[in-house]
Amino acid sequence: MYDTPLYQAVEDYVTRQMARFHTPGHKGVLPDPLAQAAPYDITEIRGADSLFEADGPIARTEERYTRLYHTQATLLSAGGSTLCIQTMLALIQPLGKKVLLGRNVHASAVSAMALLGLEPVWLYPDCSSGEGLPGTVSPQLVQETLEAQGDIAGVYLTSPDYFGVLGEIEAIAQVCHRHGVPLLVDNAHGAHLAFGEENLHPIHLGADLCCDSLHKTLPVLTGGALLQIGREEFVPAAKEKMALFGSTSPSYLIMLSADLCLSWLEGEGPRELRKTAQVVDWLKRLAQAKGFALPQGKTDPNRLALGFGAIGYTRTAFDSLLTQYGIEPEYLSESYCVLLFSPQNPDEHINRVVQLIDSVRPGQPVVCPSQVPHPVQEVPLRQAMFSPRETVSLEESQGRIAAQLVRRCPPGVPLVVPGERIDREVKNLLQSYGVCQVNVLK
Ligand SMILES: Cc1ncc(COP(=O)(O)O)c(C=O)c1O
Repeated sequence: MYDTPLYQAVEDYVTRQMARFHTPGHKGVLPDPLAQAAPYDITEIRGADSLFEADGPIARTEERYTRLYHTQATLLSAGGSTLCIQTMLALIQPLGKKVLLGRNVHASAVSAMALLGLEPVWLYPDCSSGEGLPGTVSPQLVQETLEAQGDIAGVYLTSPDYFGVLGEIEAIAQVCHRHGVPLLVDNAHGAHLAFGEENLHPIHLGADLCCDSLHKTLPVLTGGALLQIGREEFVPAAKEKMALFGSTSPSYLIMLSADLCLSWLEGEGPRELRKTAQVVDWLKRLAQAKGFALPQGKTDPNRLALGFGAIGYTRTAFDSLLTQYGIEPEYLSESYCVLLFSPQNPDEHINRVVQLIDSVRPGQPVVCPSQVPHPVQEVPLRQAMFSPRETVSLEESQGRIAAQLVRRCPPGVPLVVPGERIDREVKNLLQSYGVCQVNVLK
């Protein structure tokens, strides 16, 4: 049995059957189906430590995560990767005014930048991953932009992206370090990447900071995440910056699940994750033989992105197939279906995916024109986010400056950000996502 410091501390408290005159108000009693978990949903009582001032069991769990991922420090988050992203950006905020970001960024980074007064310089990904996919940012583009711009606080990339495509982290980290600039990676979808046949975790590849949503790909409750710190100088201020944004009541259930997951990762977890990767690899080959498009380049071994447009299926037609086989995907774009695998998927559910792949009858490819407008930032992000605004119809918004971030979740990538002019192309993009109204600057 592996050590679970936080779980053991809370279990000890539950066993002592103390009279609970502290928060939460449910006092350890909730109706089914939450009844079994309720006694463990505690707060920062004596012996249970405190996330942002950790020096007890939470600190010990964090130290063990640090050793597991070979980082300078790994910190727990009960506020998802969103809290880690806010923390990463707050850590680099004193280093400059601008951040170079891949445009396939998650909206949480843009909101955090507005709060911190950081300005985006957009890096538009190329089309190297295949039609209908966001693509990746090349090391050359990062290099050229770093040479052309001054006052850069950091470079920020999303890898893996929603379709499982991995960025060129190693090469880009080298470019960044030659320019004395930190590399931040949104690895929300890649907490498991340290445990495959090849270590593909961003910190291992040279990133200075990254976030891992444990809950997205590992057996952890929603909200459980890690801030991974690869550079010593960011360690001392990290907790303080995280506390700037985090709740003072982080969920113990989430933190306990992260503690139990640690024990699993130190034990049979990596072997099970590698077995899952073998299953996904086999499914990829089945899908390829049927004519599905798959993302090109290096990809997440535990994720399957099926390009159904390439075999003549529309989104609606493929969605009906998913329903027929009782499969709920992570995401359906116009031409791709994204399925996330973990060792917790039972064989019977894997079989449904096999049947789904088997059942398709390939036809003529469906072409989905992908629009990637490059809107111009005319008003600084923070100023636009906090200025007086009015709501107008999408038709009326053309030519106006956006005052809000418009996104669709998933994948949470912004269609337009505050301060950008809504030109005809942006308006058409918003229309294609069913947006009817937008907040614009007065
Ligand atoms: C790429 C990416 N980054 C960050 C996040 C935010 O992560 P969390 O939900 O753990 O806060 C998400 C959530 O979907 C995401 O897809």
